[in-house]
Amino acid sequence: MGQKVLWLFVVWSCFFLFKGQSVKAGCPIVMTPSRVVVKYGDPLTVNCSSTIDQVESLGWESNVKGTPATNAHHVLLNIEKVDEWELESECFFNFKNGSQCIEQLPIIIYKPPDSVSIVADKPMEELKEYTLQCIVSNVGPLYKMTVIWYKGDTKIEQQKLAYTAGPPPYNQTQSSFIKLTLDKHDHGRKIVCEAKFDFEEIGFNIPPVRSAPLDLQVLYRPIFEETKVEMIEVPPNGEIILNCTAQGNPMPNYFWQVPQASEQAVGHQPVLRLQGASTGTYNCTASNSQGFSTKQFILTDAPRDYTVLAAVVGVPAALGVLLLLSGPFIVTKEGTFSLGKGSQVI
Ligand SMILES: *[C@@H]1O[C@H](CO)[C@@H](O)[C@H](O)[C@H]1NC(C)=O
Ligand SMILES: *[C@@H]1O[C@H](CO)[C@@H](O)[C@H](O)[C@H]1NC(C)=O
Ligand SMILES: *[C@@H]1O[C@H](CO)[C@@H](O)[C@H](O)[C@H]1NC(C)=O
Ligand SMILES: *[C@@H]1O[C@H](CO)[C@@H](O)[C@H](O)[C@H]1NC(C)=O
Ligand SMILES: *[C@@H]1O[C@H](CO)[C@@H](O)[C@H](O)[C@H]1NC(C)=O
Repeated sequence: MGQKVLWLFVVWSCFFLFKGQSVKAGCPIVMTPSRVVVKYGDPLTVNCSSTIDQVESLGWESNVKGTPATNAHHVLLNIEKVDEWELESECFFNFKNGSQCIEQLPIIIYKPPDSVSIVADKPMEELKEYTLQCIVSNVGPLYKMTVIWYKGDTKIEQQKLAYTAGPPPYNQTQSSFIKLTLDKHDHGRKIVCEAKFDFEEIGFNIPPVRSAPLDLQVLYRPIFEETKVEMIEVPPNGEIILNCTAQGNPMPNYFWQVPQASEQAVGHQPVLRLQGASTGTYNCTASNSQGFSTKQFILTDAPRDYTVLAAVVGVPAALGVLLLLSGPFIVTKEGTFSLGKGSQVI
């Protein structure tokens, strides 16, 4: 019971302490700049001046280097090199009536990372999950640092650096982790991580530090750009080219299966040039360490067959339709039918 009362007292005291400080904040003081974000090791200069005449003297108090009270109307805090993380400074006034007024200068000291770098497996296999690490080294304060990940120009992740109270948030090395599953389109893309201080909301823009790009190398099984079954008519001279080129990483190897009748010597090239090709199904398998894909070329004989068939069945049918649907049609010398200027050859 007694302990509870004690706690209540402590809480109330704190409350009044804060209230007290906020009253002091009403000092007729102008600090230029009114708050500072300063890089560790840089100089710091802040001008404190009074806005009223009833001031006897004014000065700076600081745990690093203060400025004694002077009778001037303004006083400078001048630190040649900020090399103390816990820097505190306040400007104070002594009024002519003997009372004093103190205002604290809001200070944030930061240190950009010595380096930002990505650690990842290389190469990666498609459709597997990988963890990438972005190491931000020797930075402070940790809790003001965000890591942004980009794939190409696209932002893919944004994380605040983890910070657990305990060790000082300065001079620390911390990492951001992301999980990625890549596909073949990611092959050759770049991943970058960027360490950035979150000071924009208080009006400070510190340039972010970027890692060197990680060139993604994605292993993927061979795939064909076009359809996997190609119908080909062998022209009268029997010369045809079968193109089995597939995309894949590593570069695919090719294996052809041709009809027995074909006397062509087939190698392991992606493109097969045939002379006097015989009809049938030609199979090509593109394979690499990640798998394989098969493409079929179905070779059929002479387009002549179709012309004959078309002449026997197609033309009279088309004629009939044309006669029914439209009035004029022209019979050309070659024996094909065309409408109007012959733009639609049947
Ligand atoms: C400091 O502020 C006072 C009052 O605004 C001004 O007169 C003075 O020139 C300033 N000094 C410096 C060094 O900026
Ligand atoms: C002293 O003078 C300052 C400035 O005029 C005023 O704000 C403050 O209330 C005065 N304090 C006392 C105790 O009179
Ligand atoms: C912290 O970082 C500062 C600035 O780089 C350096 O001067 C100082 O020696 C570091 N301290 C430790 C303990 O690493
Ligand atoms: C085979 O196809 C690939 C892509 O599908 C193309 O880049 C290549 O030029 C073609 N080769 C020939 C000989 O047509
Ligand atoms: C190509 O593959 C098809 C379907 O798997 C098969 O029927 C055909 O016999 C194969 N052709 C050759 C030349 O092996």
